Amino acid sequence: MNGKRSFASDNNSGAHPLVLEKLAESNFGHVTGYGHDIFTERAKDKFKGLFGNDIDVFFVFNGTAANILSIKALANSYNAVFCADTSHVHVDECGGLENFCGCKIIPLKSSNGKIEKEQIGQYLNYKGNEQRSQPGVVSITQPTEYGLLYTVEEIKALTRYAHENGMFVHMDGARIANGIAAMDLDINEMTRDAGIDALSFGGTKNGMMFGDAVVFFNRDLSRHFIYIQKQGMQLASKMRFISIQFEALLSGGLWLDNAKHSNRMARLLYEKIRDIPQVEITRPVETNMVFAKVPEGIIKALQKNYFFYILDEANSEVRWVTSFDTQDEDIDGFVLCLKKLLK
Ligand SMILES: Cc1ncc(COP(=O)(O)O)c(C=O)c1O
Repeated sequence: MNGKRSFASDNNSGAHPLVLEKLAESNFGHVTGYGHDIFTERAKDKFKGLFGNDIDVFFVFNGTAANILSIKALANSYNAVFCADTSHVHVDECGGLENFCGCKIIPLKSSNGKIEKEQIGQYLNYKGNEQRSQPGVVSITQPTEYGLLYTVEEIKALTRYAHENGMFVHMDGARIANGIAAMDLDINEMTRDAGIDALSFGGTKNGMMFGDAVVFFNRDLSRHFIYIQKQGMQLASKMRFISIQFEALLSGGLWLDNAKHSNRMARLLYEKIRDIPQVEITRPVETNMVFAKVPEGIIKALQKNYFFYILDEANSEVRWVTSFDTQDEDIDGFVLCLKKLLK
């Protein structure tokens, strides 16, 4: 590994310098552990500045924990959790939800990672039937694993339907900042005002060294979360080192600046490659990801220069992700390399 910036994932990047600065700032003396410290209070205040005072917020090490623990707070083991067949919680969390919550996941066929309320309808007759897992939670990812965005109206349609039918709604916002940056709206419009009950708010993919947050808008559901967090091995004793990073991110709009930048870099990449005849862009580019089909024969050589993942081997579809630290010259170098290999 040569440390060269790649297009593999936004978690392949390092931490933003302002995050590191804040970490150093908090690295003095002794403070109480497990989140009972001034830094955690300050980070919580930042979240309250964003969402209002009537929320509960908790800090965990990673996005997988944010998803699984928040859904555990929303569901009993006899519940079914509906999500996209492509969702991280279903595909990329090693069965963690099933193991930790005991719930049944019902994956729904998605379009670029998005699901619709009508798809849940066929399971509503499970309600009251003791032989069947009881519809309990709908989990959506915003932006999706393919970088696409639900509109506010689409989110509202899902939350309204879920609530009318006795379910709660979780949003996996591992890249929520990229979504807000792309849609240019207040985060409340897309989350709490749209009816979301619990949000996994990503930090790691947006310039933090590690750490994600769980934000409860429905505070009835957060009452026991601290115990779930401890039992789930995500109650950091040196919590200040997660919290302070969020303070850095949420101060002076760094979270949005980072996301706007990585979205812009993905757009730039898209613009520079969209007219290359051998490259077929396969999905709309709305945030910080570009998906494309490229000739199979060049993938390995390209990966040697700029590492990235293959989404679908059979169709030579690859995924390129930009980060807060991606530079114009990375895009130029990558495009040049791609064009050379295609000659
Ligand atoms: C959509 C989505 N949710 C959650 C996660 C989980 O993050 P982590 O790897 O930090 O557990 C990821 C990470 O890739 C992700 O892409």
